[in-house]
Amino acid sequence: MATTRESTDSDSLVQPTAGQIFFAAPTGGDTPVIELRGAEKVFGYDDTATTALDGVDLVIERGEFVAIMGPSGCGKTTLLNVVGLLDRPTSGDYLLNGRNVAKLSASRKARIRNREVGFVFQNFNLIQKLNVLDNVTLPLTYQRGLNFRHQQKVSTLLKTFGLQNREYYMPYQLSGGQTQRVAIARALVNKPSIILADEPTGNLDSKNTEIIMDELTRIHREDNTILMVTHNPDLLSYASRVIHMKDGKIVRDIELTKNKAHATATKFVSRRKAVRGHRRSIRRLAGRSKK
Ligand SMILES: Nc1ncnc2c1ncn2[C@@H]1O[C@H](COP(=O)(O)OP(=O)(O)OP(=O)(O)O)[C@@H](O)[C@H]1O
Ligand SMILES: [Mg+2]
Repeated sequence: MATTRESTDSDSLVQPTAGQIFFAAPTGGDTPVIELRGAEKVFGYDDTATTALDGVDLVIERGEFVAIMGPSGCGKTTLLNVVGLLDRPTSGDYLLNGRNVAKLSASRKARIRNREVGFVFQNFNLIQKLNVLDNVTLPLTYQRGLNFRHQQKVSTLLKTFGLQNREYYMPYQLSGGQTQRVAIARALVNKPSIILADEPTGNLDSKNTEIIMDELTRIHREDNTILMVTHNPDLLSYASRVIHMKDGKIVRDIELTKNKAHATATKFVSRRKAVRGHRRSIRRLAGRSKK
């Protein structure tokens, strides 16, 4: 089947019409950071079986900012869980940085998750017995042990999100929006290269939405990859690409060529290609001088 990736700006987006099916195709010769091939995820058995992912083909290059849209129950969270190694596809392949995830050991997967993936969960998943400071410091503690400098770093990050007066609050003392900002700070504290955000601004007012989206944009500019589930079409202006899902399938895949995030994404791909070309020339020259 032919693969197509449309190009458009975020203002002219329309919902997919019945029968219109588009699939993602890679943008270049770079090894994609994420590649799903015919990924299927089925929950339950027999009469109770639910197909949450139904043969998803998806290629994401490092440095893309992908918005994921679609109706409730179409498989968006399941897709993020598979990409973030929290769940595995029932069938099909998942290649992370070109390596088949099925071949990675459990400890390697856990290391990748801790170091490279930042999750903003749809239900936040804060640990109720820890205060704000400790919740956000936790990923650093897993990685490098408890350290006073970590807490200073976390305090600075909390300030960015307007939470400097909430460090010693327990999660139950926070408003929905504050809880959400804590969850986002926790996802970003490790400086992950892949950020998976499940409706990160769902409960926030426009001012706080802007703070979060500006922070994600800053992180994106540092050559990181972002997958963000959203129901808010206004947020597409921050993305370089949008995929629409329906009934566990990707039904539309569009590059948002007029957005700044698209320029950022393509700049990094072309810079990496240039560096690889340069390295190849050096290797060729080195090979010739040996002869
Ligand atoms: N652990 C599970 N066990 C059984 N079914 C599940 C499980 N997780 C998800 N599902 C089902 O898989 C389908 C996709 O769920 P998913 O959470 O991915 O949807 P979603 O697109 O994120 O929806 P929403 O926008 O409401 O968050 C749903 O029908 C859901 O009921
Ligand atoms: Mg969901």
